[in-house]
Amino acid sequence: MAIRILSGIQPSGVLHIGNYFGMMRPAIEWQNAEKGKAETFYFIADYHALTTIDDSEALKANARRVALDFLACGLDPDRGALFMQSDVPQVTELAWILSTVTPKALLERAHSYKDKVSRGLSPSAGLFTYPVLMAADILIYDSDFVPVGKDQKQHIEMTRDIALKFNDTFGGGLKLPEPYIQTATEVVPGVDGQKMSKSYNNTIDIFGDEKETRKRVMSIVTDSTPVEAAKDPAKSTIVQLYSLFASKNESEEMRERFRKGGTGYGDFKKQLFEKLWGFFAPMRKRREEILADKSYIENVLARGAERANQIAGQVMTRVRAAVGLN
Ligand code: ADP
Ligand code: TRP
Repeated sequence: MAIRILSGIQPSGVLHIGNYFGMMRPAIEWQNAEKGKAETFYFIADYHALTTIDDSEALKANARRVALDFLACGLDPDRGALFMQSDVPQVTELAWILSTVTPKALLERAHSYKDKVSRGLSPSAGLFTYPVLMAADILIYDSDFVPVGKDQKQHIEMTRDIALKFNDTFGGGLKLPEPYIQTATEVVPGVDGQKMSKSYNNTIDIFGDEKETRKRVMSIVTDSTPVEAAKDPAKSTIVQLYSLFASKNESEEMRERFRKGGTGYGDFKKQLFEKLWGFFAPMRKRREEILADKSYIENVLARGAERANQIAGQVMTRVRAAVGLN
């Protein structure tokens, strides 16, 4: 049987280059033949987004935009399923069943929950049990690997703990997934040098317009080393971001010019902007093409939901039998 790759992304804002390198690109790469025969399931986590969004129009618009952007970035809907999480409502049934074997203490250890509450989000029951729904998302497709950024690693470990507990209690039935995290891009820095995140207002968006994107790149925080002085490439956000887009040689060249001195941060930022803008150019073009085809996204999501429901139905039959539900 082909290995199964699954990942989800919340439609809680505009996608940025941290999302691209941490989650979207690795997910898309799994669709390449070189990776072997993998079956991919990627979804837009709209149930999860309800923990932070209470505006129905915004949720709908964001969800559609994430589908569009993911497709524009190269996700091939003919090589896997792209769907809305809420088009597979059985996942909420599995989440309920899993919640009955999930220790409350396990959820209390979740960094993401503690972070969100410390940033002022209301600690609703949904926010608290978010990792159980995420476990259901993963386990309902018998997933082998889950491509995500490093911040999601704990959620995958919790998924494994929950699956083990379920298997122990009911005599097996759930497959244990592994996280798939690319070390080179595990944490993409934002313009302030911290982890790029929409919650920190430090993002560079994948499909921002040219003026805004340039402005964001030029706003990267630097120290006050003068133009002529040598600069330390190891500590520079500009170099870190540039190396995501440039070849090894090009990145080494930039590092060399840092060490040599004589070039100001402004010039390095311009070079980064040009590289980044060129990198996403084919994807911007693809995005326009998708937008021109009015029913494309709906058709993709409908096909994806059909495939996802097929697998989810099989796993749920197994789970219901294991626990003694009809
Ligand atoms: P945000 O932090 O902006 O809210 P999400 O939590 O919605 O982003 O993340 C969606 C996906 O993108 C996850 O798999 C996450 O690990 C990945 N991701 C987000 N930000 C980064 C980053 N700065 N570096 C690497 N991966 C990231
Ligand atoms: N929690 C993930 C995030 O914020 C989104 C997500 C929901 C997910 N369900 C998932 C990711 C299942 C991978 C697998 O990015």
